[in-house]
Amino acid sequence: MNAKTLAIIVILLYNVRICQSKKYVNYTLYSTVPTQPVHLKFLLNLDKQKYMDVIFWRKPSMLYEDVQLIVNPADKEHFLERVYHFKMKVEEMLTDVNSAFEAQTVTRYMRLNTDTYTWYTYHRLEDIYQWLGDMAVRYPNVMELASIGKSIEGRDIYVVSLKRPGNKFKVIVEGGIHGDEWLPVELVTYLINELVAKNNTGNYRLHDLSRKYDWYLIPVVNPDGYLYSHTTDRLWRKNRRGTENAIGVDLNRNFDYNFGKYGASKDPKADNYCGPRPFSEPEARVLADFITEKKQNLRFYFSFHAYGQKLIIPYADRINHIDNYGEMENFGKQAILKMYKMYGTKYGIGTTYDTLGLRISGNSASWVKRTHGVRYVFTFLLRDEGTYGFALPPNQILPTCEETVSGLTELMVAKPRRVRLNFINKAQKPASVTFILFCTTYFILLLK
Ligand SMILES: *[C@@H]1O[C@H](CO)[C@@H](O)[C@H](O)[C@H]1NC(C)=O
Ligand SMILES: *[C@@H]1O[C@H](CO)[C@@H](O)[C@H](O)[C@H]1NC(C)=O
Ligand SMILES: [Zn+2]
Repeated sequence: MNAKTLAIIVILLYNVRICQSKKYVNYTLYSTVPTQPVHLKFLLNLDKQKYMDVIFWRKPSMLYEDVQLIVNPADKEHFLERVYHFKMKVEEMLTDVNSAFEAQTVTRYMRLNTDTYTWYTYHRLEDIYQWLGDMAVRYPNVMELASIGKSIEGRDIYVVSLKRPGNKFKVIVEGGIHGDEWLPVELVTYLINELVAKNNTGNYRLHDLSRKYDWYLIPVVNPDGYLYSHTTDRLWRKNRRGTENAIGVDLNRNFDYNFGKYGASKDPKADNYCGPRPFSEPEARVLADFITEKKQNLRFYFSFHAYGQKLIIPYADRINHIDNYGEMENFGKQAILKMYKMYGTKYGIGTTYDTLGLRISGNSASWVKRTHGVRYVFTFLLRDEGTYGFALPPNQILPTCEETVSGLTELMVAKPRRVRLNFINKAQKPASVTFILFCTTYFILLLK
């Protein structure tokens, strides 16, 4: 057998493409910015009435906030006819969502070989758990792996704790609360690897932080949903609670914070179904109990999601800013600048309302801020801004991890200082609005 044949066999063995349902074949991903009230009305109505087979990846909220949705090929013509009717500009981002999903390579991990685990591809739950176990065996003095409880289907939810006796402040990092968001899971495992295995190289500031704080990292809060997203439905977001026709609860709406009030549905079929009552779901309860156990001196709480390139400050349901908003925004801007300098990725910052134009309640981050008064609570919406959305190609995993960890480091060491961001990550306001603003400013200056 020559080397080439061997290589091909190895690739076949370890580069399995998980057999997903072919659900999204020829679905088109569209991106649009509603610039007129009729556009917004049409989109909101489409989301509510579902008179065409569409799935919103980013729901319509207000004028000038961009929207992404995928459209069934059977309804494409109808959709475009409506779009034409309302004189909307839509951009076709992906012509076949399924093939973009298929390009999201999932690599197998060879056990007991922690160095072979890389961030060039995505990973299955089984392999992530195997790797975590192997890391704990390989670095017994540095990290500890423990199950903090079980999912509704009985899978373990793991936390990685860094063992540094005598530390004072704590950091909790949460990922994978939404099954279809694969990138945050990769990010948290990357961060674990940086903290545990790269203790003498690379990022010295992170190395410092790994000693200064007690770290607790939970890479997959929703293991059932994550697994189901790999095996059956790539866009599965919720947990796997079974009720008659519809299954699953959005865990990031199930926390006991203004439960069910904003951005959450009471309809069990909805993707953002909040569940029958706060903490009805074991996964949310397990996470909340763990956080409560560690509440003393809990200084930072980070929650990772895909996608949108936003750094979000609590509370998710409020329009007003909280007391230390200014400080968090200042530190956040320093992180954003750092991320921008690395690969030119532009982040927006603000509350959920500021950055997405909507309000949500029952999410973990707001609950942490509210219940335990944690000083710095940030939610990252990772790459991208809707070009690929949930179908982000694997070659963007590593750069995303690098820039995000560098931003996170910056956030944790930041001191108050002036930051000016020369870009704004916001939907484009029409030139006329900018012009009017400019004229008004100019006029005011003249009056002075
Ligand atoms: C998807 O589109 C391609 C190209 O237009 C076509 O050949 C194929 O039959 C379509 N597949 C399905 C399942 O609609
Ligand atoms: C640093 O990493 C090495 C292996 O790379 C490990 O043996 C050592 O225990 C680590 N030290 C600390 C303090 O984390
Ligand atoms: Zn999410």
